[in-house]
Amino acid sequence: MKGTIRMGICIAMASAAQREMVYRLRHDVYAKELGQYSARSDGTLPDPEEVTSSYIIATVDDDLVGFVGVTPPTSARYSVDRYLDRSELPVVFDDHIYEVRALTVTRAARGSHIAALLMYAAFRLIESSGGHHILSIGRREVLGMYLRMGLRRLGRSFTSGAVTYDLISGSTEDIARRLGPYHSRLHHMEADLDWQLDVPFLRPAACYHGGAFFEAIGDQFDDLQRRKKVISADVLDAWFPPAPSVQSHLRDHLDWIIRTSPPTHAAGLGQVIARTRGAPAACILTGAGSSDLIFLAFRQWLQQDSRVLLLDPTYGEYSHVLHNVIGCRVERLELPRSTGYQLPLDALQRELRENYDLFVWVNPNSPTGLHTSRWEVEAILNDAPSKTRIWIDETYVEYAGVGQSLEPYAAASRNAIVCKSMSKVYALSGLRAAYLCAAPAQLERLRSITPPWAVSLPAQIAATHALQSREYYTSCVIG
Ligand SMILES: Cc1ncc(COP(=O)(O)O)c(C=O)c1O
Repeated sequence: MKGTIRMGICIAMASAAQREMVYRLRHDVYAKELGQYSARSDGTLPDPEEVTSSYIIATVDDDLVGFVGVTPPTSARYSVDRYLDRSELPVVFDDHIYEVRALTVTRAARGSHIAALLMYAAFRLIESSGGHHILSIGRREVLGMYLRMGLRRLGRSFTSGAVTYDLISGSTEDIARRLGPYHSRLHHMEADLDWQLDVPFLRPAACYHGGAFFEAIGDQFDDLQRRKKVISADVLDAWFPPAPSVQSHLRDHLDWIIRTSPPTHAAGLGQVIARTRGAPAACILTGAGSSDLIFLAFRQWLQQDSRVLLLDPTYGEYSHVLHNVIGCRVERLELPRSTGYQLPLDALQRELRENYDLFVWVNPNSPTGLHTSRWEVEAILNDAPSKTRIWIDETYVEYAGVGQSLEPYAAASRNAIVCKSMSKVYALSGLRAAYLCAAPAQLERLRSITPPWAVSLPAQIAATHALQSREYYTSCVIG
C-alpha cells in the first residue's frame, strides 16, 4: 500500500462528525502505534484542554487518510504549552502566530504526498488569514519534510511518551519563497485534487508595478515634502503638469469637490469625450483608469477556455490578468529582439485567422515604444474574424503624432475596442480616469456592471477640462 495514494484526494475542513474520526485516528497513531499516550477505552484521543484547533482533513472515497490541526492566536493555549514554557522560547507570541499540530496520516497514506499536501493546506489557511509565523513541534523521524518547507529548528526538543519532538517555526514569507520554484508542480497537483478549503489553492499572484517610490516617501503620506527629494523610476507618469485649467478648477473648488458625490455614471464626461474625440457618446464608457476597465471587461468577456493572443513583449498587466486572474489560454506573437521588436504584420494577419476570442494590441507598444500606423492597423482589423474582439490600448498614441487614434474606427466597427488611459498624456495618473471607445453593443453589458460613482468627482472635472486643453497637451507631448 505504501505510497499508492495519488488520485481522488479531497482536502477539506473537518465537520463535527469528521472531528470524531480525527480523534479516533489520533488515538490509533499516538496511543496505540507510537505509545505517546496510554490507550483509552473509548478509542479516541480528544484535543487537550483549552487548545482550540480547527482540523484540515484529507479523505479518499470518504475515508479519512490524514489530518492536521491549526490553532489560531485566539486559542487560550497552544499544544506546545503543555511541554515548554513560553517565556523561555525564542518566539514572539503575537496576533499573527499560528500553531500547526498533530500532522498525521494513516499507514496506507505514508510515503504518499498527503502529509506534504496537508502541511501546504495548513500554510495556505494561515497565510490567507494574515498569519506571519507558524510554530510547530515536529516528530524527529519526519523532521526533514518540515525543514524542506522552510521551517527551522529552534534548538528545543523534548520527549513525550516514546516520541521525541523538535520545536520548529518559520515565517509564512519564508515558506512562500521556498515554495516559489514548485508553483508549476503545485498547479499540476491541483488538477488531481478536490480542494474544498475556502481559500484558493495557490495564492493569487499580483502584478508587479513598482511601488518603491511610495516606499521611499511613505505611503501614509505623513511628510509629502519627501517627494521632492526622491526621483520616481516606478512608472511612466507624465513629466509635465496637468493643463492650467485642470489645476485652477480643482484648486478653486477643492473643498466642495472633495465632499461632493460625482455624477453617477460620468455622463457629462462621456459627452465631452465624444465631442472632442469624434465618436458618439453611446460609444464611450468611462472608468477609474484603464486598469479598472481592463479588469472589468476581461472578467466579463473571458472564461478559462477562452483563447487570447498577446504580443510579446507587451504591457505586463495583460498577461497577469489573463493568466493569474482569469486563467485562460494565452498565445503569444513573439517580437524578437533581433528584429528590433518590430511587429511582423503578415504573421499577425495570419495568426488572427485562428479565431481568437480576444487580441490585445498595445499601440504604440509598451515597453518597446514602436507604433504601427493607423492605416496599417485598420487594414489588419478589416481582415480579422468579426468574432475576435480586438482591444487596442492607446495609452501612448499621442506620441505617434496627430490623427493616429483608432477611436472613430472602433466606434463604427463591431469588434474593435479602444482603451484610452488618461493617466499619461493628460498627466492625471493620480486621479484615475480612462475610457473605452467601441460599438454601443460591446459596451452595454459593461455599462450595467460599472458601479455608480466609479470615476471620482476630481477625476471627472479634471478629465473634462483636460480634453478641452488640446493645444496645451500637444505642446507638452510633441513640443
Ligand atoms: C500600455 C499601458 N496600458 C495601461 C496602463 C495603465 O494605465 P492606467 O493608469 O490608466 O491604469 C499603462 C501604465 O503604465 C500602460 O503602460
